[in-house]
Amino acid sequence: MKESERRSGPSRSEVQAHRGASAIAPENTIAAFRAAAEQGAEWVELDVALLGDGTAVVIHDVSVDRCSSSTGNLGDFTAADLETIDAGAWFDPRFRGEPLPTLAAAVSALGELGLNANVEIKQHPHHKSLDQLVKTVDEHLRARAPQTEIMISSFDAAALKRMHELNQGYELAMLWSKVPDDWREVLQSIPATTVHLGYKSLSIGFLEEAVRHGIKVRAWTSNDPRQLASFWHAGLTGVITDDPSAYLS
Ligand code: G3P
Ligand code: MG
Repeated sequence: MKESERRSGPSRSEVQAHRGASAIAPENTIAAFRAAAEQGAEWVELDVALLGDGTAVVIHDVSVDRCSSSTGNLGDFTAADLETIDAGAWFDPRFRGEPLPTLAAAVSALGELGLNANVEIKQHPHHKSLDQLVKTVDEHLRARAPQTEIMISSFDAAALKRMHELNQGYELAMLWSKVPDDWREVLQSIPATTVHLGYKSLSIGFLEEAVRHGIKVRAWTSNDPRQLASFWHAGLTGVITDDPSAYLS
């Protein structure tokens, strides 16, 4: 019997805390990464984009409106503005003063917390070029602590292709909400051997085909283990969750 056929859940190293432990701490902050580590997670997922001056920051949206005390689009800010942005109080007053992290600060925190990271590259209209975005991300990641493992994910195949040209040292994961008909061609064109798929689009048939072709599949964003229970035996590799404790207990 193959290992995957015996599994009823993910291994510890296959539970990724989505934007950190974002169920209990403000998403994409160092506090959320610390909370993930305290829950026993080994990996966090985080989103990266650039400010108007090219500073790489950890944030999901193109604006700071939803997840901070400030308003405005990333393209209108520079590194100097980060001092004025509170990325914690919106979630809970206990997190008042939590900074919106630069990628540099996040990479340093990963090393201190002993975490690995799935770095999701977000492409936004204000970015000057895809090249600048991907190069900036790679430069920061090269400065990580030696024990920090990194994988790169993106909804943008071109970003993954560019990263492959720059650095062959990362696992590359193509993000999809639904699997397109030409999924194998897209993966081969990058090249990538991992799919991160919206969990509602999982099917046993797709997982079995992926396994046949040596493709890993992780599911996002599932906070209830019952949602994935029928997929582990079919070869699901891992989960990206706001609540790592649900999968680690
Ligand atoms: O990596 C999975 C997930 O983060 C993709 O969607 O919108 O939460 O970045 P989103
Ligand atoms: Mg993400």
